[in-house]
Amino acid sequence: MLKKIVSVCLAACLVCAGCALAEEGSFVSYHSDFSAGTDGWYARSAGGAAVSVTEEGLKITGRTASWNSPGRDFPLQAGKEYALSVRVRQESQATANFMISVAHSKAGTESYENLATGAAKKGEWTTVAGTWTPGEYDNYILYVETAGSDTLDFTIADFTVELNEVRLGQDDPSLKEAFAPWFLLGTAVTQGEALNTQRMDAYSYHFGIYTPGNELKPDSVLDVAASMRLVKEDDTAVAVRFDAAKPLLSYCRDHGLPVHGHVLVWHSQTPEAFFHKGYKASAEYVSRETMLARLDNYIRQIMAFMDQNYPGLIVSWDVVNEAIDDSTGQLRQSNWTKVVGDDFVERAFEIARKYAPKDVKLYYNDYNTPIAPKTDGILALLARLTAEGNIDGYGFQAHYSATSPAPSRIRAAMEQVEALGLRVRISELDVTIDGNTELNLKVQAIRYADLFKIFMEHAEHLDAVQLWGVSDDLSWRASQYPLLFDRLLKPKPAFHSVLELAKAE
Ligand code: GLA
Repeated sequence: MLKKIVSVCLAACLVCAGCALAEEGSFVSYHSDFSAGTDGWYARSAGGAAVSVTEEGLKITGRTASWNSPGRDFPLQAGKEYALSVRVRQESQATANFMISVAHSKAGTESYENLATGAAKKGEWTTVAGTWTPGEYDNYILYVETAGSDTLDFTIADFTVELNEVRLGQDDPSLKEAFAPWFLLGTAVTQGEALNTQRMDAYSYHFGIYTPGNELKPDSVLDVAASMRLVKEDDTAVAVRFDAAKPLLSYCRDHGLPVHGHVLVWHSQTPEAFFHKGYKASAEYVSRETMLARLDNYIRQIMAFMDQNYPGLIVSWDVVNEAIDDSTGQLRQSNWTKVVGDDFVERAFEIARKYAPKDVKLYYNDYNTPIAPKTDGILALLARLTAEGNIDGYGFQAHYSATSPAPSRIRAAMEQVEALGLRVRISELDVTIDGNTELNLKVQAIRYADLFKIFMEHAEHLDAVQLWGVSDDLSWRASQYPLLFDRLLKPKPAFHSVLELAKAE
């Protein structure tokens, strides 16, 4: 739930003026109706525009460009979410489009973002509002401008900035603590979530291990343009980058939270160019030897980057994802089988083992595990990998629905994997329903509890249980409400049913 922090005006507050409110050192909230003057607001223009206080608010006149605007400096904090709102009125034309925008600068270079928009009809006070999480900058000027080329006069009133506190069922016991006697409980998060440190602070109350949802997949990590330049000298060269993953990795490092890496080798979300001569998707495939050398370079550099920048943070990796075909149980045909051959999974594990730190566990990860003929295909692959000695465990993605597969089949599949002597992770758990009716939410809660009961029974084999996301609205299956928290971050019946289970033991 997004809850506003109520603040009090302290004697030494930073931005206190008029009826502005703030906390010393950390900006909490601001509001001005301009009854006490311009309150630090000024006209942003190359000269010509001016602001003046009227009975109704702050008026700007003499604008010669749409960016000419009333603006004010605000000491915002990067990674915190703010709610912004202002009332605007214009008397000049049928409608005018207004925006709350920000000018921020870093090392002397100014850049801009539009944060909220709204259309104001002639003579009508109109509220423009939105939320914004600032990135890292040296300073921030919030201002109100018009879109397009309008240079009309207008008045603003009740400009408000408030820090939003993110709450995630923190009045209830912590899930990760409740399940600590059995396994680590975690979730996947994407870059947008990771950049919002308030969200992450709330998440970490319940979740103790994290997977980047997309940011360590080959299409995020492989830098095709840079690789293309490098292969002019050496066709096996690979360039990598980690910009997308850094916010989550850094948050987890700074807060002592372990990370599961996902994923080194996959047929999907992998640039086609990776497999082709000169990194040109239209050129012919490279040879098996070249591809294996590229894969070796790719994995070596990932492990080296993690070792240098985030030592000890990644406790396990999905080395290969989804190599088995659903309908045949055989290897899925892909660029990997075409270019490397049918042993590409074994070779990927061999390379990963060569470069991964000693105590990092290596996993094969797949979905529909309990469903024939895939079960036998996965087990056969795991048996081959186990024989080569480079695999530690198997990840059940566990993208289920509230009615399928039957929990008994999931239990049986877990037992088959465990019989190979492998560790198990539940790596991407979500449980869909068709519509969030009260009844469906109850059915979902019962299924979640049935699944967690099985996971608890198998705790000695399990390294972690990770949800594939926190709140329904951000799920890849958002329309089927598959997670433990709703879009307002409120705990759902499924949250309570799994928590009750842990408390009952
Ligand atoms: C698979 C992948 C995940 C993710 C989901 C869909 O399960 O392993 O990385 O892409 O699909 O979000």
